[in-house]
Amino acid sequence: MKLVTELLSNIFKTAFYECGYDETLGQVVVSNRLDLCQFQCNGALAGAKQYRKSPLLIAKEVSAIIPENEMIGSLEVVAPGFINITLKDEFLMKYVQEIYSDKYMGVPQAECKETIVLDYGNPNVAKPLHVGHLRSAIIGEALKRIITATGRTAIGDVHLGDWGLPMGLVLAELEERYGKDLPILTTDLLNEIYPYASKKSKENLKFLEKARNITAKLQKGNPAYKEIWKTMIALSIEDIKKTFTRLGATFDYWYGESDSSKYVPELIEILKNKDILAESEGAQVVEVAQEGDKHLIPPTIIIKSNGSEGYATTDIATIIQRQKDFAPDKIWYVVDFRQNLHFTQVFRTAQKAELIPNTAELTHLCFGTVNGKDGKPFKTRDGGVMQLSDLLDTVVECAYEKLRLSDDVEETLKKETAEKIGIAAIKFGDLINHYSKDCIFDIDKFMASEGKTGVYLLYVVARINSIMRKNQEVCNVKLNGVYSEGERDLLLKLALSGNAFLGAYNEKSPNILCENAYQIAVAFSKFYHDNHIIGETDKDKKLSWLSLCTIVKAMLVKHLYTLGIETVEVM
Ligand code: ARG
Repeated sequence: MKLVTELLSNIFKTAFYECGYDETLGQVVVSNRLDLCQFQCNGALAGAKQYRKSPLLIAKEVSAIIPENEMIGSLEVVAPGFINITLKDEFLMKYVQEIYSDKYMGVPQAECKETIVLDYGNPNVAKPLHVGHLRSAIIGEALKRIITATGRTAIGDVHLGDWGLPMGLVLAELEERYGKDLPILTTDLLNEIYPYASKKSKENLKFLEKARNITAKLQKGNPAYKEIWKTMIALSIEDIKKTFTRLGATFDYWYGESDSSKYVPELIEILKNKDILAESEGAQVVEVAQEGDKHLIPPTIIIKSNGSEGYATTDIATIIQRQKDFAPDKIWYVVDFRQNLHFTQVFRTAQKAELIPNTAELTHLCFGTVNGKDGKPFKTRDGGVMQLSDLLDTVVECAYEKLRLSDDVEETLKKETAEKIGIAAIKFGDLINHYSKDCIFDIDKFMASEGKTGVYLLYVVARINSIMRKNQEVCNVKLNGVYSEGERDLLLKLALSGNAFLGAYNEKSPNILCENAYQIAVAFSKFYHDNHIIGETDKDKKLSWLSLCTIVKAMLVKHLYTLGIETVEVM
């Protein structure tokens, strides 16, 4: 389906052309003052200088030749040269009806079927998941679903941290504690060992050196270390999958940094052939500084002086793997802002070595940290680092507390419902703000039943469910009129959903979808408040209203699904 803005633009482009102006001036956009008009064309202002004419004159000239058509209800030229456009109710209604029958619910599908690899989630083996991984999983999953919703192919790879020094630290500590008589490894033991070993390495340089050497040996394939490492990975993945499943994060691949290892010889070969691999203090590096850099960009370390591969090496070799396996048009990395320099080095090295076509886009979507209400990094009550599963439990408990006394939700469904509400609250609370901003983790705000929250949106869907339960007669979804002002606004918000999906993709910004879902929900609440749907005696009117409820629900569910949020039947 075409967007309303596109259909209107076509009409205005023809008119601009016929008046002798550049047709691109006919672009129509959604009004930024929906209280004044629904759409606007600002081409006359843009063209005034070029054509040395007053914008008002151009706007009047163009508007005068717009033919009578089924879309436009009213046109108004406003100083200094805006053209304000309002749709005919009949068209708006038909358009929304068409959205409901459309397989994609009015979301335009990309003509060029790009493939986009999303690198997100990014947990580390032997280290507990923390709130940073939460954001990566939430934002990455939403982007993945936005890509799919707009007709492109998304490939999600969790890119497990399983190849660096943390592995060597755990192996070294296991060796010091148990020698060759290793106990059966458990998640609890691993969770205890890593922080211990990490602290120890900061105080004990010999231990650090040992861990580094073990890391290098592991990477070279030492069978004994590899065996223990494999058990560590299996244990960690099992644990991580539980939390990520709870969060609704769906990865197509559970590759780790270690999977890139087999591409390292090829990488070295390419770098040597291109003559860009240099020796520096015993390490092999690639210079990536460029003229005009505002900060010093140090060379990318490919092989460290002790022979081990660095973090950048795994990322660069992974680009070779992704190019071979998926030939992606884009790779998006959903990783926090502290890794900005790392990705600059990785991307520049990959481009310099021509590991991907120069048309391919590599983007680091760097998100901010998760802070508490005090603006400081989020901690547990006793000041420790908050683990992801504890955080989820805290919010779900809060949701359960609210449901506990409710008569609407069946006792047996309360736990399950609380889980969905809690997760929705966290996800929406994160996604409503642009990802680049820090996320203030405020449970009370996230759980509020009014305002821009996941809870409010689930509540609106549950309300529609309740209306439909009381009126099971609608089988045919058919709008037959616009009976009130509130309805017109609601129809317009529904009609603009395609723009929101497209905007969310183009700007890589799930918050655009959150905002649109919220706008629909608010418009619905007003419509519901102003009209007595259930008691309405005019049969046609009632059927049209119930149809509208059905469409609103379908559209909200589509928005929420794309944001990775499940709805509940009752709450
Ligand atoms: N595992 C890393 C961490 O927790 C993040 C990995 C990000 N992705 C990547 N391709 N480097 O810090």
